[in-house]
Amino acid sequence: MLHDNLSVNAAGHLTVNGADTVELAEKYGTPLYLLDEDRVRAKCRTYLRAMKEYFGPESHPLYASKALSFKGIYKIASEEGMSVDVVSPGELYIALAAGFDAGNIYFHGNAKTMDDIRFAIDSGLGYFVCDNETELRRISDYAVEKGIRQKILLRLTPGIDPHTFDAVNTGKVDSKFGSAITTGQAEAITKLAMDMPGIELRGFHCHIGSQIFDEKPFCDAADLMMTFLVMLRDKYGFTASTLNLGGGIGVRYTEADPYIDIDSTLKLIGAHLHKICDENNFPMPQVLMEPGRSLVADAGVTIYTIQNIKNIPGFKSYTAIDGGMPDNPRYALYGSRYTVLLANRADEAAEVPFTVAGRCCESGDLIGENMLLPKDPKVGDYLAVLVTGAYNYAMASNYNCIPRPPIVMIADGKDTLAVRRETYADLMGCHN
Ligand code: LLP
Repeated sequence: MLHDNLSVNAAGHLTVNGADTVELAEKYGTPLYLLDEDRVRAKCRTYLRAMKEYFGPESHPLYASKALSFKGIYKIASEEGMSVDVVSPGELYIALAAGFDAGNIYFHGNAKTMDDIRFAIDSGLGYFVCDNETELRRISDYAVEKGIRQKILLRLTPGIDPHTFDAVNTGKVDSKFGSAITTGQAEAITKLAMDMPGIELRGFHCHIGSQIFDEKPFCDAADLMMTFLVMLRDKYGFTASTLNLGGGIGVRYTEADPYIDIDSTLKLIGAHLHKICDENNFPMPQVLMEPGRSLVADAGVTIYTIQNIKNIPGFKSYTAIDGGMPDNPRYALYGSRYTVLLANRADEAAEVPFTVAGRCCESGDLIGENMLLPKDPKVGDYLAVLVTGAYNYAMASNYNCIPRPPIVMIADGKDTLAVRRETYADLMGCHN
């Protein structure tokens, strides 16, 4: 199996964290998002321990909650001692409603409105990751009005291409995010921030991309960011205390993807950073990282029911399921690869290629092409798509007026409904 929380039981059924996915499909209906809570917690602990050990006692991960945002996940993050990154007032609202400590929230985004800034500061937000000069001035003005100095990190673009696909590559100079170091804009905005009455500049942030499978791009980013930090100290006498290296550690979606070990990757990045700091006689900063995908992706599995099988002689075979791009738009958007199997026949060899089609009225609504399934899949078989914990529910829509599926969490052998299935009435919830 692709990941060690997946297995096949005596009935030939796929299990997730020990739970029989066929029984869960029958109990909750399909489509159904399953989330292995124990796996998410274990990943949080790995990041928390490794970052302290390899970067220093103040260093810690922030959960990039854009990957999967619902009330229960913020409770888990809070219980595990994680901080979180939010990218919108909506994510902030849900985190606060879940009881998450505002002081441990970092608010991202390249187009924050004045309302967003007021809402965040009024809620006692810990940090803004400030993207640009307009935002900087807005934060400072409102902080002054409230009589506080707001802690921020400035987002920089170090100009790294981590050889990932363009849609998720955000650290290059030509980017809608942050200020580029090479153009001098990073230095200019830093000077501005240092002198603003409502701003407490703690340090700098970069995020170089997503689905990265080795430490090298992070070390390259650390080199460029540390060169900038050393320059600031030498030129302005300003020693930044925090360096946020963003998210991006990759996840295995198919057998073709490599496996990346989080602990040993962080160890290598930590050793690299200590070396740069020693060489420059610079105090090791507090290091933050923002994993999203690598915390939740391989904890998720989606279960569908096959509704139709179609063979086109001389062409290919389709299986059509009761979900698709509304609950998982990643193939339609990025051509992302997934692994599928039949949850009720998980012990049978996968040998016949199928195109797995969704139920939307749109031919690009596919989960994937050339996906291997056992011979002769049947209407009513349960189709499992593996590694759907990140950017599936988070990116889900109601396209074609299809209600979003529920999320069921599995912990300690028990299943809990964390998000209920949307109803048809929910579809009209905002209609006059
Ligand atoms: N921090 C920042 C500033 C980010 O922009 C992102 C992701 C992360 C952290 C988390 O990165 P991760 O650890 O999850 O790779 N919808 C796309 C992914 C977009 C990622 C955007 N930024 C997908 O489905 O692949």
